[in-house]
Amino acid sequence: MTGMTNPFLPFTRPAIDEETIAGVVEVLRSGWITSGPKVKEFEAALSGLFGGRPVRAFNSGTCTMEIALRIAGIGPGDEVITTPLSWVATSNVILAVGARPVFVDIDPVTRHLDLGLVEKAITPATRAIMPVDLAGLPVDRDRLYAIAKKHRLRVIEDAAQAIGAKWAGKNVGSAGDFTSFSFHPNKNITSIEGGCLVMNDEREAKLAEQYRLQGVVRSGVDGMDVAVPGGKFNLTDVAARVGLGQLPHLEKFNAKRRELARVYFELLDTPSGRALELRLPPADFSNSNWHMFQIVLPEKNLSISRAGVMEKLTAAGIGSQVHYPAIHLFSLYRKLGWKEGDFPHAEYAGRNILTLPLFPAMSRADVARVVDALVAILSAHRKA
Ligand SMILES: Cc1ncc(COP(=O)(O)O)c(C=O)c1O
Repeated sequence: MTGMTNPFLPFTRPAIDEETIAGVVEVLRSGWITSGPKVKEFEAALSGLFGGRPVRAFNSGTCTMEIALRIAGIGPGDEVITTPLSWVATSNVILAVGARPVFVDIDPVTRHLDLGLVEKAITPATRAIMPVDLAGLPVDRDRLYAIAKKHRLRVIEDAAQAIGAKWAGKNVGSAGDFTSFSFHPNKNITSIEGGCLVMNDEREAKLAEQYRLQGVVRSGVDGMDVAVPGGKFNLTDVAARVGLGQLPHLEKFNAKRRELARVYFELLDTPSGRALELRLPPADFSNSNWHMFQIVLPEKNLSISRAGVMEKLTAAGIGSQVHYPAIHLFSLYRKLGWKEGDFPHAEYAGRNILTLPLFPAMSRADVARVVDALVAILSAHRKA
């Protein structure tokens, strides 16, 4: 098969340019390698992406969401409405602050939390909504904020995957309440590990700084107080330099992802492609940053499992991944009371969703290779 002649095609791969590598070496030689001037520079550049709103950088996307919840004063006794189809970080941070996640099912087309179900899930304990821009497709911000405003709820946008995605022509993060991004290596731009939080004002930004580093507030020459129970979430200057080297490529990277996504649609729109009865992602070429190209396999029509498909793709030299199993069916969440059948659309997606390779260094021929392999595997395992 093609895997014999072509190098392995992973489902994603970061692209770090030589200038960034040289810049990292410079930071390493500078004598200041942890949080310092590069983090400040990175934050200023990020703020520029988000219309000048206050931004702070952290060592993960996960902690930015936890810190947003803390800044909003959300804790024990409070409920936060979110989606069961996300990286488990989204709901883990709600548990981490002592609040209760309230899942609502997804819309099977967008794969986002179904905004039509959110209002029914609101109780007197509801304090916030935490939507997830899965695969970089933005949740409908107009509907989201109309609900939040009507019910006086905070919003923590889990935009971990949505850097450079647009809403109303502006970058996600330019408007709204809290917006959280991740710079994990799989994301459209990376700082190796890292994340940032976009906030409303300097008061929130100061609190974020405190939560980021043990709650410490410094004053005068040697004054120090601890104001809140913070943790250790600061980004290093080495990581910030990587992030700074990625930012100038963001638009170009995202444009290339969009172009490759179009190729997927084009090459799957053939008689043999259509016969596979795959559920494709929404064909959005204006808002999404195409963080991932995810198909949903037609479970009932196949005599091969998703794992089987993934193994055969691997044998053909092609990587694939699952983003994500439904959160409420993890044992931790089952112990908290959720069970099979609670969210049928999320469960179906959790069992059948598959992320195909998509990253800026790919070519049209790479996409063709993936589609050819997929068509061959699935056609050979269709139930009669
Ligand atoms: C939807 C979603 N939420 C949260 C996170 C957490 O980000 P991080 O891995 O940087 O902590 C990620 C990425 O891993 C993600 O994809």
